[in-house]
Amino acid sequence: MNSIINDIEIIKSETTKIHDVDFDNLAFGSVFSDHMLECNFKDGKWQAPKVVPYQAISLDPSAKIFHYGQSVFEGMKAYKDANEDVYLFRPLDNFNRLNISAKRLAIPELPENYFMDGLKALLEVDKEWIPKQDGSSLYIRPFIFASGNGFHASPANEYKFLICTAPSGSYFSGKVKVLIEQTYSRSANGGVGFAKAGGNYAGQFYPTQLAVEKGYQQVIWTDDTSHEYIEEAGAMNIFVRINDTLITAPTSDRILDGITRKSIVELAKAEGIDVEVRKLSVHEVVEAAKNGSLKEMFGAGTAAVISPISGFGYKDEDFELPELEETFASFLKKRITDIQTNKVEDPFGWRY
Ligand code: COI
Repeated sequence: MNSIINDIEIIKSETTKIHDVDFDNLAFGSVFSDHMLECNFKDGKWQAPKVVPYQAISLDPSAKIFHYGQSVFEGMKAYKDANEDVYLFRPLDNFNRLNISAKRLAIPELPENYFMDGLKALLEVDKEWIPKQDGSSLYIRPFIFASGNGFHASPANEYKFLICTAPSGSYFSGKVKVLIEQTYSRSANGGVGFAKAGGNYAGQFYPTQLAVEKGYQQVIWTDDTSHEYIEEAGAMNIFVRINDTLITAPTSDRILDGITRKSIVELAKAEGIDVEVRKLSVHEVVEAAKNGSLKEMFGAGTAAVISPISGFGYKDEDFELPELEETFASFLKKRITDIQTNKVEDPFGWRY
C-alpha cells in the first residue's frame, strides 16, 4: 500500500525479490533491494523525492551523462544490531561530501532534508533487506547524474538523484596485493581527485586491468608529477605501519577525503596509536620493507572497510608484508565495526 514517511511519498513494489537472496553468501553490490529513492532536478529546482519500486530508467541518448560524464556518487552502509535496530555511520558527512563533489562538477547541490529524509524513508521501506550477518551490511549508493539532453558541452539543466541499496558482503575476498603505479595518474592538482566523480573511477580501470594481468588486485596511485609519493588506492585510502607508527597521506585536491580514513585516524589516536598524517614517499616504504620496519599496509573505505595488503610491487620488484599475529588492521577493523553495529559505546558520536 502506498504511504507517506517523513513527508516522502512511498510507491510500494507489488512484488519482492527478497526470497531469491542468499543472505549467508552475499557478494558485494550485485543484488538490489525492492525500492529506490528518486528525486529530479528540473525547472531550476530539486523536486520532492519519492520512494519507488527499483526499476530501469529511461534516458534520451543525448543525455549529458553519456557524453560528458557529469555524475557524482557516495558509498554508505546501514547496519542492524542484535535488536534489529538500524544504524548509519556519519551520514551527514556523506551528504556534505556529495554536495562538495556536485559543486565541482557543476551539479546543483541537494537540500539536506531530501537526502536524509529520503534515505530514512527508503530504509524504513526496505529494512528487511539490511543483513544481520556479521561482516554484511546494506550498501547504500546515493548518486546524481545529468539527465538533461543536448550535445552542447555545458552543464545539463536536468539531473536525477537516486539512492539504490544492495545487501552486501566483503568487497575483497582475501588479502590484497597492490602495484605502486609509476606511469598513469589518477588525479592532478586543480582536478577532480577529491570528488567522488564517476569519471575518477573509469580512468582507473585500464591501469588497474594492466596491474591485474600482472597478478595484483589494486593500484596504489602516486602523485602525478614525481610518482614519488603514495596517495590512495582509488577504491580506498591507504595506511602504512612503519614500526609502531601508522601513516596516511594528507587529503588534497587529488585525494578523496575518506570517511573511514578520517575515522581510523581519530580512532587510532584515541587508542594511543602513534598516527602521522603526512606525505609518505615510495622510497620510505621500500626502504622500510627492506630493513624490516614495514609491518603493515591496509586500505580503508566504506566498501573495503579495512582491507589488509599482503604485498606490493614496485618497478618490477615484489615485496611481501610480514604475517603478524596481532595487527593494527584487525584491531581497528573490530573497533570500527563494533561501533558501526552498536556492539560497543560510540564515544565519537558517529553512529546515527
Ligand atoms: C565505497 O567505498 O563506498 C566506494 O564508493 C568505493 C567504490 C569503489 C566501491
